[in-house]
Amino acid sequence: MTDKLLISASGPLRGTVSVNGAKNAALPIMAACLLTDEPSVIENVPQVTDVLTMAEMLRRLGVEVSFAGDRATLRPGGTPGTEAPYELVSRMRASICVLGPLLAKHGRARVSMPGGCVIGARPIDLHLKGLQALGARITVEHGDLVARGSPLRGARVHLGGAFGSSVLGTANVMTAGVLAEGVTVIEHAACEPEIVDLAAMLSAMGARIEGQGSPVIRIEGVPRLRGARHRIIPDRIEAGTLMMAAALAGGEVRVEGARAEHLGAVIDKLSEAGAQISKLNGALRVQAKGRPQAVDVTTLPFPGFPTDLQAQMMALMAVSRGVSVLTEQVYPERFMHIAELCRMGASIAREGASAVVKGMTRLSGARVTAPDLRASAALILAGMAADNQTEVTGLEHLERGYQGLEGRLTRLGAKIRRVSDAAAP
Ligand code: EPZ
Repeated sequence: MTDKLLISASGPLRGTVSVNGAKNAALPIMAACLLTDEPSVIENVPQVTDVLTMAEMLRRLGVEVSFAGDRATLRPGGTPGTEAPYELVSRMRASICVLGPLLAKHGRARVSMPGGCVIGARPIDLHLKGLQALGARITVEHGDLVARGSPLRGARVHLGGAFGSSVLGTANVMTAGVLAEGVTVIEHAACEPEIVDLAAMLSAMGARIEGQGSPVIRIEGVPRLRGARHRIIPDRIEAGTLMMAAALAGGEVRVEGARAEHLGAVIDKLSEAGAQISKLNGALRVQAKGRPQAVDVTTLPFPGFPTDLQAQMMALMAVSRGVSVLTEQVYPERFMHIAELCRMGASIAREGASAVVKGMTRLSGARVTAPDLRASAALILAGMAADNQTEVTGLEHLERGYQGLEGRLTRLGAKIRRVSDAAAP
């Protein structure tokens, strides 16, 4: 039985909501546990299906993974596998982040080649270039990447691509470099907070890393790493989604755990749209009244406006006063949500990598299907600003990366109901 969300016009939102741990920090950090033979404990792990898929992947690779609430304990020690199979990689592209740790620890890895996905082509050339610079020999055999190389040797590698830095590419080269002989320098490294969090985990495991959070990361290889205890950072994308919900529906919401230093571009654009954002102790407060103002936004690697909040921002623009232009500079094809938002009466014209959004007073409730993870959140937000009822299906995408989003919005006053197909009116 598939679930769907029934959403009615909502707002103003009021109250406090806290942010879960960051999915995109948790995934490479869980994979990093392959670098040691000792157990690690990771706290503040979000309970989303991508995390469960990564756990399943790690079990196949000989790691015992158990969860107690938001705490994951990872115990390597079973028969160590080095093969990441198609059925898991095709379910979750982020499975590619086991490549660096497997290669570093065992000198070999076989990882099914990730294909494209709904948000675009998503090549992995930068991952391969980085690992090859450390001495790995990589071939493609029957749809699998087969990597060999022991020992890896530190090197200087430039990881800039046509669309800027690569987050998981940087993660793969970092996790390989920590056990390589000598020094690895990553230039044009991703500066995302999730990379800084990965470096914190690796450092707790005994790695020597400097420069994380800047475009140049220096790693001095060590012969072995130990298990560690680490707490995942709050999810800036989830925080940004909740902040946008408040900016769109109006009201006053305290987003507990949202970090201003991770959300600079988002705070800037929501303020330009008319929301008042204040930094409190350990939280951000969003106050908003009336329709947002149109704003122009360009997505960029951190510290720019995140591509993972582009769809949600488009929902806000769809009901803003005036015309907004949204330009996607990270995934120029990440516009699957436009057609769904237009079914709800939004006026959006795509021009290459940009979307021109003419704000409407109200959207009109409709049946829509979430095409991907972030688009699912955008459709929920849009439903909150639409007349009548909006029905969102395709919730498997939402569950990949948001833990209980609709329940948390409901507690703030949003009118959202989850029903299973059979129970739907
Ligand atoms: C991470 O994906 C995130 N996933 C994505 O979040 C996010 O959208 C993306 O970074 C950008 O911020 C995880 O962290 C698990 P990239 P990643 O390599 O690392 C091009 C979500 O909704 N590129 O930084 O795979 C690529 O095509 C997800 O939570 C190359 O050209 O993204 C894109 O244009 C979806 N060659 C740009 O770089 C490569 O080898 C950035 O991609 C790799 C990437």
